[in-house]
Amino acid sequence: MAFLEVQDLTLYYDTHRGPVRAVDRVSFALEKGEALGIVGESGCGKSSITLALIRVLPKNVHTYTGSVRLDGRELLAFSDEEFRRQIRWRKISMAFQGAMNVLNPVLKVGYQIAEPLLQDGQIPKEKAFARVREILQLVGLSPETAERFPHELSGGMKQRVVLATALVFNPSLVILDEPTSALDVSVQAQIMNLLKKLKSELGLTFIFITHDIALASDLCDRLGIAYAGQLVEEGPIEEILQRPTHPYTQGLLESMPLLHSDKSPSFIPGAPPGLIDPPKGCRFAPRCPYVFERCEQPPPLCVTPHGSRALCWLLAEPAPLSLKREREQG
Ligand SMILES: Nc1ncnc2c1ncn2[C@@H]1O[C@H](COP(=O)(O)OP(=O)(O)OP(=O)(O)O)[C@@H](O)[C@H]1O
Ligand SMILES: [Mg+2]
Repeated sequence: MAFLEVQDLTLYYDTHRGPVRAVDRVSFALEKGEALGIVGESGCGKSSITLALIRVLPKNVHTYTGSVRLDGRELLAFSDEEFRRQIRWRKISMAFQGAMNVLNPVLKVGYQIAEPLLQDGQIPKEKAFARVREILQLVGLSPETAERFPHELSGGMKQRVVLATALVFNPSLVILDEPTSALDVSVQAQIMNLLKKLKSELGLTFIFITHDIALASDLCDRLGIAYAGQLVEEGPIEEILQRPTHPYTQGLLESMPLLHSDKSPSFIPGAPPGLIDPPKGCRFAPRCPYVFERCEQPPPLCVTPHGSRALCWLLAEPAPLSLKREREQG
């Protein structure tokens, strides 16, 4: 059994126009110490997947179902109170999208990092602040940073503070939602190096959300491609990059400009569907160059010959051979 096993995770939001199917039967597995990158266009449900995992849900939840097994324990069976006491921050922590911009401006950063430890009431103040100094050093900041206010810090330092808040309870799974997208490229590289160091030295398991496949490949062992609320392909990162099987993954990779190639990037025609009334069958079908009759039905999750999994009728048996051949010939 893998360290993290997510099966059919589903999260819909209630709106006056109907439920928004932000996360629809998402499945993946991750071993301890591995990092999974999740990439996909804006609005495809990346943040919603992370919120479903750490169970930070808005009031307008319509459906929240599926299975999340961490170290063999089914987390969806936990009550909200049990989850808050035992899992959130302690076992699964998260650096929320844009968190570095919402640090409390009137509180010293040391206090903000210590806050969850102090809330607990079980850890004496002195011990909590000793932990803060330790964790600041772990993320590459001096212990004196604890005495500073957020406005006194650079963007890169603020992002390190956000990481420190996520690491304070020594969790085993850390979710990072676009941790570097507000940073300039050189600071971004420093944060990526820090994440790689934390991964190798602490054996942390990461879920890393990004728009940027190049960044994901710097840190991650596995890659998930999100499209319209679903994970359309997931597997070992080198397989996905070298042998993408889902037509959306292929299109996404072809749309990335390559530094050392004179081939100009191509674009996927059309736009992703709305999540209130997405296509009944394959959600990518309206944009897919290989679409055929079966795509009107929801596609099965198929295992590819290279160990990744994709939601696509082209991989199902019996395979439509003519289409497969056409695809292999490019
Ligand atoms: N509380 C909510 N109520 C209704 N719809 C929501 C709510 N939160 C998010 N959504 C919608 O759910 C979909 C998925 O949003 P989500 O923020 O998960 O996407 P994302 O992939 O993280 O996007 P981005 O790359 O811009 O951060 C979007 O259509 C969004 O508008
Ligand atoms: Mg997001």
